[in-house]
Amino acid sequence: MDSGQMKTGKVVALCSAKGGVGQTFLATNLAIALQKKYLSITLVDGKLQFGDIAIALDLKTSVTMKDVAEDIARIDHSLISNYLTNHESGIQVLAAPERPEHAELVTNDVIKKAVHMLKDHYDYTVIDCGYAFHETTLDLLDIANDILVITTPDMTALKNTKQLLETFEQLGYTSKIKLVINRYDMEGLIKPEEIPAMLQLPDAEFVSNNFKLASQSLNIGIPVVSRRSGTDLAKDLGRLADCIVKNNHVDDETDSRKERTKKLWFGRKK
Ligand SMILES: Nc1ncnc2c1ncn2[C@@H]1O[C@H](COP(=O)(O)OP(=O)(O)OP(=O)(O)O)[C@@H](O)[C@H]1O
Ligand SMILES: [Mg+2]
Repeated sequence: MDSGQMKTGKVVALCSAKGGVGQTFLATNLAIALQKKYLSITLVDGKLQFGDIAIALDLKTSVTMKDVAEDIARIDHSLISNYLTNHESGIQVLAAPERPEHAELVTNDVIKKAVHMLKDHYDYTVIDCGYAFHETTLDLLDIANDILVITTPDMTALKNTKQLLETFEQLGYTSKIKLVINRYDMEGLIKPEEIPAMLQLPDAEFVSNNFKLASQSLNIGIPVVSRRSGTDLAKDLGRLADCIVKNNHVDDETDSRKERTKKLWFGRKK
């Protein structure tokens, strides 16, 4: 990390209304696809209890978010890089705590402070947020410039995604949202091209279905865009990175409106 140079980096948060839709697969590959554009990237595992970024990248982590939480009072911009793990692709990873019981040490303030420090140093901070209906996730989505809502084209995922998008509209996130339909060409009753309209969105990004390749890459910890860059799946992931780089959102909602809506939905006390 170039500690002397401050950036105004972008934050890209991936979230979903249902588990198992491919967030970790997409977050790891997106981070590396962005890095291939000569951008500096940090990848944050925001799924604090059962984060799987380290496994997906076959990373041995000696420091995690737990250490950030323990040292938060003395960490500043120049020290945050000490808590990252270097991946061979060049991206830096802020890993989730190794044990689920340590997740509660990582308060919302800790993770927010860490992300704010990271965005001052990296072109993009990519966050695998996990389940969207969670207060920590919402705090991260507030900071995010782009929110990638990941879904698969099956009925249960789409039903949940529709409800999630309705909530996000009330939270004022609409202008930051990009729908990503992962495994769009898997067998099913719903035509993928009809999904954006079903969810009342103008468009979506599509990532093809290749279970053998995706699961193999997650199991061996080598992302598809690193070693299988000629495959259709890697090309789709590259296009997703292109779309992020092209995106320029204006967050036009006031903080007070967001806070009011969160209070309504999640009973948040300020
Ligand atoms: N484009 C794809 N094509 C085929 N299979 C995929 C694709 N993306 C992900 N998968 C498979 O879906 C499964 C879940 O992927 P992943 O672990 O990334 O999901 P997740 O949303 O992070 O899950 P969790 O909620 O457990 O964190 C894995 O077996 C993975 O191989
Ligand atoms: Mg995951």
